[in-house]
Amino acid sequence: MDTPVESVKPVKTVNVGICGLGTVGSGTFNLLIENAALLANRAQATLRCSHVGARRDNPACDLGGVTVSRDIFDVVRDPDVDIIVELIGGTTDALELTYAAIRAGKHVVTANKAMIAEFGNDIFALAREHGVCVRYEAAVAGGIPIIKALREGLAGNRIEWLAGIINGTGNFILSEMRDKGRDFADVLAEAQALGYAEADPTFDVEGIDAAHKLAILASIAFGMPLHMNGVYTEGITRLQPVDVRYAAELGYRIKHLGIARRTGQGVELRVHPTLIPQERLLANVDGVMNAVLVEGDAVGPTLYYGAGAGAQPTASAVVADLVDLARHISVGQSDRVPALGVADAAVESLPLVPMEQVETIWYLRIQAQDKPGVMSQVANILSARDISIESLIQKAPRPGQSHVAVVVLTNLALQSNMDSAVQALEALDTIHGDIIRLRAETLDG
Ligand code: HSE
Repeated sequence: MDTPVESVKPVKTVNVGICGLGTVGSGTFNLLIENAALLANRAQATLRCSHVGARRDNPACDLGGVTVSRDIFDVVRDPDVDIIVELIGGTTDALELTYAAIRAGKHVVTANKAMIAEFGNDIFALAREHGVCVRYEAAVAGGIPIIKALREGLAGNRIEWLAGIINGTGNFILSEMRDKGRDFADVLAEAQALGYAEADPTFDVEGIDAAHKLAILASIAFGMPLHMNGVYTEGITRLQPVDVRYAAELGYRIKHLGIARRTGQGVELRVHPTLIPQERLLANVDGVMNAVLVEGDAVGPTLYYGAGAGAQPTASAVVADLVDLARHISVGQSDRVPALGVADAAVESLPLVPMEQVETIWYLRIQAQDKPGVMSQVANILSARDISIESLIQKAPRPGQSHVAVVVLTNLALQSNMDSAVQALEALDTIHGDIIRLRAETLDG
């Protein structure tokens, strides 16, 4: 018979100061109360939100018995607070608050991907100097414990590449547009109402939020400093429904992916709409769900799936970090995992690969004149640049139209070759308007 594990009574109270009481702040505040007993057992300490810093109260939270300050810096100044939870977002007050907390010797938990991606190198250096921890599980992929998976679960592997749907709002918009034919603006408004979207939703739809998250994932996966400015970023706003349909005819779905890949030249970092074979699990991740596919040299491909945004899922990640830190405080467990990036950077220094040198499969949609010889012109321009055609669809012209849509799927081709081919194709009299081009990934190695 199994011997029951006895729970040890928490001997210490760890005081948490939550700054920001919006969607994630209120979710975190309530989760600490709802799961208080089990968290105390896991943390070997009573985790208590003792101080909240927020411009206004949130009706979702009962703040009775909690000190409430309108000035968030009062929370840092409170000598009883052990851990600051930064949930105000942005990179101005949030950054100042984080630096102040570290200098005051307090640990920090944050969900702020923009702050970590842009200022993480300095934040972690300061935290090391002051002997405190900065945790950010909630910054990437909401409730999915992807940071822990990379730092701990996959620590035995050399990470080869990762590819993820890491913006819930964008994925929600693409899914609703594809399945229900809904309008872009209408779905975005719903994502905002549900608390998924960033304060500035262009961060979601232009890929900036995903770029922040990809920079963080890559720094952990490849042990490199954060390179937010090195992420090639393309959003979903210019995606047209017709390309979603043609991609489906070719057996693909279009997803907004963040991709980080180790190559012979260094590391590729890119966020862009991507055609994925429709039978891949990643192609079937819909709505606000996120998923990250990680390929390690020993384990092979592993997939992590879950809610990428929203109060409860994000609070789940914040509270996991709080339990870790509370254990650290209560039972003196030292930081078990390496500091972000710096530890491995000394072993291996990986440069970023410029986009011109990145090889992908390409989807092209060309409006061509419906007359003999045009197809061979297209094929010649592509083959002269070492680009071979995998499949090709030609649509019959609509009544009254002299142009036909030609959709091409290539084999792997360098971006520099494709840039040159598109320029040559667009210069032809027989080609009408701009060529639409999207990248495709097979995700199989
Ligand atoms: N706006 C983000 C998203 C929130 O939609 O994924 C979670 O980071």
